[in-house]
Amino acid sequence: MTKKLFIKTYGCQMNVYDSARMADVLAPHGYAPTETPEDADLVILNTCHIREKAAEKVYSELGRLRALKAARGTMVAVAGCVAQAEGAELARRGAKVADIVVGPQSYHRLPELIAKIAREGGQALETEFPPEDKFDHLPDGTGAVGVTAFLTVQEGCDKFCSFCVVPYTRGAEASRPVAAILKEARMLIARGARELTLLGQNVNAYRGAGEDGAPADFAALIRRLAALDGLHRIRYTTSHPNDMGDALIAAHRDVEALMPFLHLPVQSGSDAVLEAMNRRHSADDYRRIVARLRKARPDLALSSDFIVGFPGERDADFEATLKLIEEIEFAQAFSFKYSRRPGTPASVMRTQIPEAVKAERLAVLQSLITKQQAAFNRAQERRVLPVLFEAAGRKPGQITGRSPYLQPVHVAGTAALIGHVHPVRIETVLANSLSGQLLTEAVAS
Ligand code: SAH
Ligand code: SF4
Ligand code: F3S
Repeated sequence: MTKKLFIKTYGCQMNVYDSARMADVLAPHGYAPTETPEDADLVILNTCHIREKAAEKVYSELGRLRALKAARGTMVAVAGCVAQAEGAELARRGAKVADIVVGPQSYHRLPELIAKIAREGGQALETEFPPEDKFDHLPDGTGAVGVTAFLTVQEGCDKFCSFCVVPYTRGAEASRPVAAILKEARMLIARGARELTLLGQNVNAYRGAGEDGAPADFAALIRRLAALDGLHRIRYTTSHPNDMGDALIAAHRDVEALMPFLHLPVQSGSDAVLEAMNRRHSADDYRRIVARLRKARPDLALSSDFIVGFPGERDADFEATLKLIEEIEFAQAFSFKYSRRPGTPASVMRTQIPEAVKAERLAVLQSLITKQQAAFNRAQERRVLPVLFEAAGRKPGQITGRSPYLQPVHVAGTAALIGHVHPVRIETVLANSLSGQLLTEAVAS
């Protein structure tokens, strides 16, 4: 008998990937995905702990699920970073709602945990880092995937930025072997993927066992993947400036499949703040890395993450951030008000910044980024961009794809374009997308 599974995903792309893998693990046990929690037998909340708001959402969602559980006996599992960080607390506060609390390293144990709860009732809490590697125990997925797919190659973080929970929720850095990644990549390509985004909390710190047993770095992994038949594009996220070494910069120069769009978080443009954040690089280090990347790949566009209102951030520090943004010119960026996270060094710093100041700085920074993003989009007008087509557009006869810079691009065309890269002359720049004219149908297909 098939049972229905509803997974709600919060947080980063690694959680999106993990949710798909949880579905893979449960499929052989009779669970098929459903679109709403109301008709599900099992609801999984795959949670994020990065900022206070993200974590709070879990408790309000559990509140909503309480009624559903009472009415239908729905089984509820809390997975992800809140599960890892607040396991016992969650089991207590979510009691009577959360049957299972499972950390990100234990997803392969889900069927076992579900069977135990079904048999014995009670609650299961699984947040120890298990001795085995979950990737060795996750089954291969089946069925079609989209034109673009995620592939986790590295997990965890050893950097301990003073504001961040990730080193605690995801544990120490660990990289998957090259052979395992190639096997999964080939499978994703066979299922329809033409673009892979390589994921890791610190993806460019990747150092996994190579096919010859010797350690391989991230650049070597990219070069191996780029040689796979049928794969048109490679992206990666999230990278750290301190792991942007010579070999990776050279890969940006040489590897055609590696897209010229890089998410490289800097967080702040003030050296004093960067030091208090334990980022271990200066604003000038970041400028130098960007200059070298742009020299290697002149059409490279950048995206970044910023935190405003970090403890001790003075007006002058914030202005240094604005100055850095003015100089670099980002195509896009994510920005956040600093959020105090339990257990992190910054949360107990005495120089916390008032909410109103954070809000004001965020608004200023975001308006600058919005301006830069609009300028970047406008600059695409009349350019010819290679577009990887992904799906039918909203209007009849329209097909949608993405530029190298992840901008959605609409053209008049047929479904035969899907999965292929074709040059498009950009004619119209809209707020969140581009549209244009298909030029030929014969590039990299
Ligand atoms: N590994 C990545 C990012 C992980 S979290 C890196 O090294 O940059 C994604 C982003 O969330 C971070 O880049 C940061 O900008 C933001 N973030 C993390 N902790 C935060 C906190 N306590 N308050 C506000 N933003 C935070
Ligand atoms: Fe968090 Fe810093 Fe690690 Fe990124 S590098 S995950 S911000 S601790
Ligand atoms: Fe959130 Fe965990 Fe990702 S805290 S951002 S889901 S690694």
